[in-house]
Amino acid sequence: MNTSTQLIPTTLPLQDRSLLRDACYINGQWVKANSGAMQSIHNPATHELVGRVPICGEIETRDAIQSAHLAMQEWSAGTAAERAKVLRRWYELMLENMNDLAVILTSEQGKPIIEARSEVKYGASFIEWFGEEAKRMYGDVIPTHMKDRRLIVLRQPVGVVAAITPWNFPIAMITRKCAPALAAGCSMVCKPSPETPLSALALAELAHRAGVPPGVFNVVTGDAIKIGGEMTRNELVRKLSFTGSTRTGVLLATQCAATLKKVSLELGGNAPFIVFDDADIDAAIAGAIISKFRNSGQTCVCTNRFLVQAGIHDTFVEKLSHAVVKLKVGNGMLEDTIQGPLINQHAVEKVEAHIADALKQGARIITGGKRHSLGGTYFEPTVIKDVTSAMRMAREETFGPVAPIFKFSTEAEALQMANATEFGLAAYVYTKDMGRAWRVTEQIETGMVGINVGLISTEIAPFGGIKMSGIGREGSKYGLDDYTELKYMCMGLS
Ligand code: SIN
Repeated sequence: MNTSTQLIPTTLPLQDRSLLRDACYINGQWVKANSGAMQSIHNPATHELVGRVPICGEIETRDAIQSAHLAMQEWSAGTAAERAKVLRRWYELMLENMNDLAVILTSEQGKPIIEARSEVKYGASFIEWFGEEAKRMYGDVIPTHMKDRRLIVLRQPVGVVAAITPWNFPIAMITRKCAPALAAGCSMVCKPSPETPLSALALAELAHRAGVPPGVFNVVTGDAIKIGGEMTRNELVRKLSFTGSTRTGVLLATQCAATLKKVSLELGGNAPFIVFDDADIDAAIAGAIISKFRNSGQTCVCTNRFLVQAGIHDTFVEKLSHAVVKLKVGNGMLEDTIQGPLINQHAVEKVEAHIADALKQGARIITGGKRHSLGGTYFEPTVIKDVTSAMRMAREETFGPVAPIFKFSTEAEALQMANATEFGLAAYVYTKDMGRAWRVTEQIETGMVGINVGLISTEIAPFGGIKMSGIGREGSKYGLDDYTELKYMCMGLS
């Protein structure tokens, strides 16, 4: 193994420079790629070099999986309270280093520093919550069917977990996976997104300081196809957890089929945000801003379609565009920035293509609609009306700061429009009629519904989708299920 403990020179305003790493974390050591190959990470706001990480492949991934396999034996044999103590320390270290973690996150991902700090807290909350929940990983005693038998169900860790995580939440999407995994007694090998590996390595440094034993949590950066290929092929990996696009999720699930791994997939969305005539309009506007423009529209649960009832439509369009014009676009490192740059040019091109398609078919821009004068990957927060189901933005996830507004007349029509998608992650409904809120919630085809709220994510509730939005749930007491297997014990008393 090619090990490294060097710190990289940086101009980032960090209190603790040792959080910025240029090596992978395998078996408790900082490791370079066998080939020596490195990849540069650039700030999407300034294009400056933020750091460099190894380009690893199958061999380093296999090493990490092997060390995770060995480390799990002792980790899972410990008590839940012992694991909870280590997780608690990791959680505390994340909060103690919140500002540095946020600086690294914003520098490689672009989101406003205020949002980055929130993400660090959100990410840390999974570690705290699952550390506590480890102590409640109860089994069951089944009332017997025979006098001389006793039936018991144990919950055991599923085994080595491979995690493939996205760039839009470089910290929280790792902790949402590793916290339940480690709490249950599993070990993990994580491949962060090539756009945002530095946050993952900083997390690994804090895991090390918290006393997570060598091999229990590993981070391998580099070639997605080679690392993902090894993760899905390797028989020692018993579970794969992935957050990202539906196309990649389907591919990974197919690759996992040969070794029958358990899979959790948190994939694309096409969230409807339904505003009925009786809604509290100001609350709906506040919810619309947070649900659409969080992370510049780059979250899986971001509203992709605003469905607004005819009676309130024009007022909603007007109020939303007034609010959107005020969103300050800029470098995420500035405290007053609300909208950072998009992650890369490809993201900008997709947003442009969706807008062009909508305009060609009769939609009208109310505000925004083009690249921002700041240049690079900045895009103007956009409101567009007269959008119809024939347009690309009705079917595909735009993943950018565009609010397309559709008009509907009846509750039945709203439901039909909301469900006319292959995706089923999140939905938002604004109404004062609680009967309607229940009816719509029960009939809408998504894994999560926000009623009169635009932000639903929390560590204590189950996050996940149905249809092509995924399999499994993350967070909450249900989140532990994905990292455990049931073992039935039948005891004869004779
Ligand atoms: C995601 O975009 O996948 C996660 C968003 C969240 O946790 O709120």
